[in-house]
Amino acid sequence: MRYIITIFLCLLSCASISAQEPAFFYATMTVHHAEELSKDAPNEIEIIATYRNEAAVRLTPTGSHKLHDRILTHGPGYIHRNSEEDAISAIRKSNNRSESNTRATANFSITEDVVVIPTLDLIQTQNIEDHIIELENYGTRHHSSSTGTQAAIDLKEKWEAMALFYNRTDVSVRLFDHTNTGMPSVILTIEGAEFPDEYVIVGGHLDSTSNQNSTNNAPGADDDASGIATITEATRALFEIGFVPKRTIEVMAYAAEEIGLVGSNEIASEYAANNIDVIAVSQFDMTLLNGSSNDVSFITDFTNSDLTSYMMSLLDHYNTEAPHQVTYSTSVCNYGCSDHASWTEQGYMAAFPFEANFGQHNNQIHTTGDTFSLTNTASHATKFAKLCAEFLIEVAKNDNTALSTDDIIASSIFVTIADNILTYDLSSTTKDIIGIRLYSIEGKEVANVSNISKQDQIRIAPLSTGVYIASFISQDNTNITKKLIVK
Ligand code: BES
Ligand code: ZN
Repeated sequence: MRYIITIFLCLLSCASISAQEPAFFYATMTVHHAEELSKDAPNEIEIIATYRNEAAVRLTPTGSHKLHDRILTHGPGYIHRNSEEDAISAIRKSNNRSESNTRATANFSITEDVVVIPTLDLIQTQNIEDHIIELENYGTRHHSSSTGTQAAIDLKEKWEAMALFYNRTDVSVRLFDHTNTGMPSVILTIEGAEFPDEYVIVGGHLDSTSNQNSTNNAPGADDDASGIATITEATRALFEIGFVPKRTIEVMAYAAEEIGLVGSNEIASEYAANNIDVIAVSQFDMTLLNGSSNDVSFITDFTNSDLTSYMMSLLDHYNTEAPHQVTYSTSVCNYGCSDHASWTEQGYMAAFPFEANFGQHNNQIHTTGDTFSLTNTASHATKFAKLCAEFLIEVAKNDNTALSTDDIIASSIFVTIADNILTYDLSSTTKDIIGIRLYSIEGKEVANVSNISKQDQIRIAPLSTGVYIASFISQDNTNITKKLIVK
């Protein structure tokens, strides 16, 4: 009888497990850790294939928890894969751990002092703190929880409101739906004014976890509300300074990082499949705790060394003195520990400036103790927000060419827009006028007409109310510009 009850109970519990979560999933990890787990828990993992140092495995959720429990003491994690084929092809990609497989090389330069220096003064620690607490207050942002999904929906609204506040018509925010999680990622896009097909990306992960349990309280203040708050404040400062990028900027809040980089993996794979030209990616995951003698620790594995050196040179250039001083060093994770690894794997250049040397980082992550009250200040995160703003401005570059021609502000010329008709009279100038360009206050070209006469009326597309700049192009290239207001 006892046996019958035991079998019955087992049937019940087995059935409830399979109803909640699949019996196994595919993943990749180092051969060493796959073998360790096989010894420890032979029923929870099956090694399908190995290539060099990487193993493609079938893993049960219990096996992944066992692995994860070791992670904080030993380091390694795993990366979730969609299928057996994906897992096998991922380990065969020539070199996931370094830059040898990058798609493109870009020339990174430091030229934007006039934009970057005033931006640094605009970054507010208080905004980062408020945002971390706001995210902590969801209780959990576990990818499978309703509050996790709600956090994504709310972040989209927050970013939209921010763009609206600064009148940014060149900004859009979307949810990116995933196959392997119900939680969407959030992507804010600032369309590049000159090279919209070239992308510069910063990201962090929005989900949180606490001992891998979806119902546990998982404040995830450092891991990784801090990263989301950091990139949000850097973006806000860019808006405040009126920065219009030449290249397209994307700010990403990834879903489901904690279960194996699921959100970033799907995004990076889609970008690669569509051949999207991503110039550079920086990850911001854990910026809150100042655990080492240096401020930033650049993670040097699963990242691109050229991009890492470039980020170091940004700090050398902009952050050697108070109040913006930031010191740095390097460290390694020894495994693909965050979303930068998803981009590296797809052959993109990625960097990962991290809060401390590995091992000296916040030891409360993945517990209910990962709260803002642990530090009670986001002054460390502020340093990362500065680096983030420098990275975005310098890699995307300011679109200052459009309005950088000599300006002759002529009060005697007449320009007005009413009922979609632009009326102008430049008969008082001696210049030969060959065209007109009209820019919105964010520097976006909204009209471009050539072969015009000195005095005319031109029908243009409807414009929203606001301030515009009309630039009359003359033969000798000394333009006449005039501000006008559309009511
Ligand atoms: N923020 C951590 C990554 C991290 C932790 C970097 C400690 C450096 C030191 C991230 O959210 C995380 O937890 N990653 C997993 C691995 C991932 C592939 C599931 C980890 O490290 O256990
Ligand atoms: Zn984590």
